[in-house]
Amino acid sequence: MRELRWAIKSSFLSYVVQSGQHLVEGDPPPVEANNITVFRFPLDSTTSDEKVARFTGEARISAHGGMLNIRLCNPWLEIGNGARLTVESWSPGASASTRTPIAEIQKPTSLAPAFESGSDERLEVVLAREAVDIFDGVYPTGTVLDPLLIVDVATAV
Ligand code: HEM
Repeated sequence: MRELRWAIKSSFLSYVVQSGQHLVEGDPPPVEANNITVFRFPLDSTTSDEKVARFTGEARISAHGGMLNIRLCNPWLEIGNGARLTVESWSPGASASTRTPIAEIQKPTSLAPAFESGSDERLEVVLAREAVDIFDGVYPTGTVLDPLLIVDVATAV
């Protein structure tokens, strides 16, 4: 079973944890690596042309009495003009979700290795322009995020 693992941005999670009363949780439950929460998104399906890999799962982060409130769901790796990770995200108060590019993959090649079990993949990513608002405009477009890890659950530590 393949799974996407992502800590989003370690400095952001450290800040959230240090901000007092906070919540960092996910479905399925995240793992801890080097004292940082790493969210897990199991692979659900891929398109036959191997241009889209759909992962499921949800990451929830809140702090500052709910003023900071991020929910990222069902990330998809999509190859087209470049390659990116899109997520379903909710703005505070919004009733419907939108699919938003959150991370641009730095060296987009084929996604084929991402779909093949047996080898772990690490994709370097930066913040997509469309996701700047998710972080309240604190990080500019192109800010380096934590890498996307695609692992075999059976072999992952
Ligand atoms: C009551 C509301 C808030 C207060 C008092 C607050 C306060 C702060 C402070 C003091 C820092 C600097 C932390 C440091 O450098 O150690 C910071 C950083 C940051 N805040 Fe907030 N914040 C608030 C709301 C938000 C919201 C709504 C977001 C949206 C996601 C947000 C996202 C961030 C981010 C991304 C950073 C940079 C973290 C990093 O990578 O170092 N904050 N905030």
